[in-house]
Amino acid sequence: DTRAAKALKDYIRTIPDFPKPGIQFRDVTTLFADPRGLRLAVDLMLHPYAGTRIDKVAGLEARGFVLGGAVAHQLGRGFVPIRKAGKLPGAVLSERYTLEYGEAVVEVHDDALQPGERVLLVDDLLATGGTAEAGVRLIERLGAEVASCVFVIDLPALGGRARLEAMGLDVVTLCEFEGD
Ligand code: PRP
Ligand code: MG
Repeated sequence: DTRAAKALKDYIRTIPDFPKPGIQFRDVTTLFADPRGLRLAVDLMLHPYAGTRIDKVAGLEARGFVLGGAVAHQLGRGFVPIRKAGKLPGAVLSERYTLEYGEAVVEVHDDALQPGERVLLVDDLLATGGTAEAGVRLIERLGAEVASCVFVIDLPALGGRARLEAMGLDVVTLCEFEGD
């Protein structure tokens, strides 16, 4: 690990056997709750994009809202929520994705992005990449372009980075936990 990755991982709590036996849950609430931790995460998320054109920041509900809101504020750009089904009040586009057990749906307002806008997609954690891929599909269906996807945590064993890179996407992750 780099020094920055080590520092970040020190703020992330691991809860064994949640939500079920054998799963090591990487809990970012301890990172979010610490003022230095939150600032470090947001600063490190922004760093690769100095000099890059970003028009909007999109965040994935729920944990991606905390980071995405802070990143958008810091970039001086607007924030677009990608929400779980049934939460957005206006006309939406929907994308179904696969979870470990079953399926879920994420949605975006159909007027949330303009064609050609360059969007930074933000979430806390990249596991299988299913959630992020659904978010990317929504952004692209609106005619916008995913400039990059950024996550605090990568679980490389679950293959999310490879999946997103195979779609031609730029992927930034700040630290890794092996063996999940
Ligand atoms: C978690 C995490 C990511 C996603 C990663 O969210 O915050 O969004 O799973 O998994 P994937 O790469 O396999 O798709 P979750 O759906 O548990 O809900 P939350 O953010 O609302 O807590
Ligand atoms: Mg999430």
